[in-house]
Amino acid sequence: MNDKDIIILGIESSCDDTSAAILINGKIHSNIVAGQAVHKNFGGVVPELASRAHQQNIIPVVHQALSEAGIDKKDLSAVAFTRGPGLLGSLIVGTSFSKSFALGLGIPLVEVNHMQGHVLAHFIHNEENRYPAFPFICMTVSGGHTQLVLVKDYFEMEVIGQTIDDAAGEAFDKAAKIMGVPYPGGPLIDKYAKEGDRKKFKFPISNLPGYDYSFSGLKTSILYFLQKEMAKNPHFITENLNDICASYQSTIIQSLFKKLIKAAADYEVKEIAIAGGVSANSLLRSELQRIGQREGWNTFIPPFSYCTDNAGMIAIAGYHKYLKGEFALQNVVPDARMKI
Ligand code: KG4
Ligand code: ZN
Repeated sequence: MNDKDIIILGIESSCDDTSAAILINGKIHSNIVAGQAVHKNFGGVVPELASRAHQQNIIPVVHQALSEAGIDKKDLSAVAFTRGPGLLGSLIVGTSFSKSFALGLGIPLVEVNHMQGHVLAHFIHNEENRYPAFPFICMTVSGGHTQLVLVKDYFEMEVIGQTIDDAAGEAFDKAAKIMGVPYPGGPLIDKYAKEGDRKKFKFPISNLPGYDYSFSGLKTSILYFLQKEMAKNPHFITENLNDICASYQSTIIQSLFKKLIKAAADYEVKEIAIAGGVSANSLLRSELQRIGQREGWNTFIPPFSYCTDNAGMIAIAGYHKYLKGEFALQNVVPDARMKI
């Protein structure tokens, strides 16, 4: 470590993960995430419980991030935090902590848009030194968002398509809830789908114009389908779980690629990246390879720990803002509906 090193403390608290990371000159030295088991019994995130858990977790998580990286707080160059979008009560915890920590240390404060953070996770230093070239399209798929973003530069992003109702992750989680699979259902549907036949059952793919998505019809269709089948055979779900998961998952992934392929062709972009928690999905990953090869794309998938909500992605976004000298003032407040 020397005086010229830029050391960023990243803070993320937009939903139900409290996270702190230390990034030195673009490289991650620690990235601690404290999840919140408290929501499991409710089948979704309970905002009030989330903000209480953030309050309990934030100081231990920051402490652990500093000690794992071997950094003293007086060595920090800046604090970068998620200003939005997200749950207001959750954002307030990270924002208030970051403001007071930066003020106490007399260092700059950098505000980060969570959705830009997901995209910029691709620029966290990696061993191969392989990063998407501008312009690229990033498909950000998480529990809260589904967006196709045209990324022209680090902070010049345009949302060209997005969901008009449920996010892709929600489509996974809500179907899981209907089937009695615990929250968050995405990873479990992925697991069961591996043993199932994806052609066994047919679910509808929405047909919106342009690059927008809709998943609420799909959710309703699986609900009615299961109600009808369960009326005939009360064991239908347990007897067919793998095939239902495989068919349902395949429909979501097909919907995602339908618009991504169209956008890539129309915008003549061949650099394609994915981000967000759903990019952990194994079918999404294998389809990205297969379709990418067919279409001649250069494809980019960050390591899993940078796909789901984490402070590393906030720190890298903060690092690039720091290089531009873009700092936040002490009167900054969270913005639950912050746009890219
Ligand atoms: O990005 P993330 O950690 O948090 C949000 O900002 O929402 O994404 C969480 C979402 C959840 O909906 C979860 O079910 C989904 O990502 N997810 C998956 C998989 N792993 C996580 N969905 C499908 N397949 C997976 N393997
Ligand atoms: Zn997220």
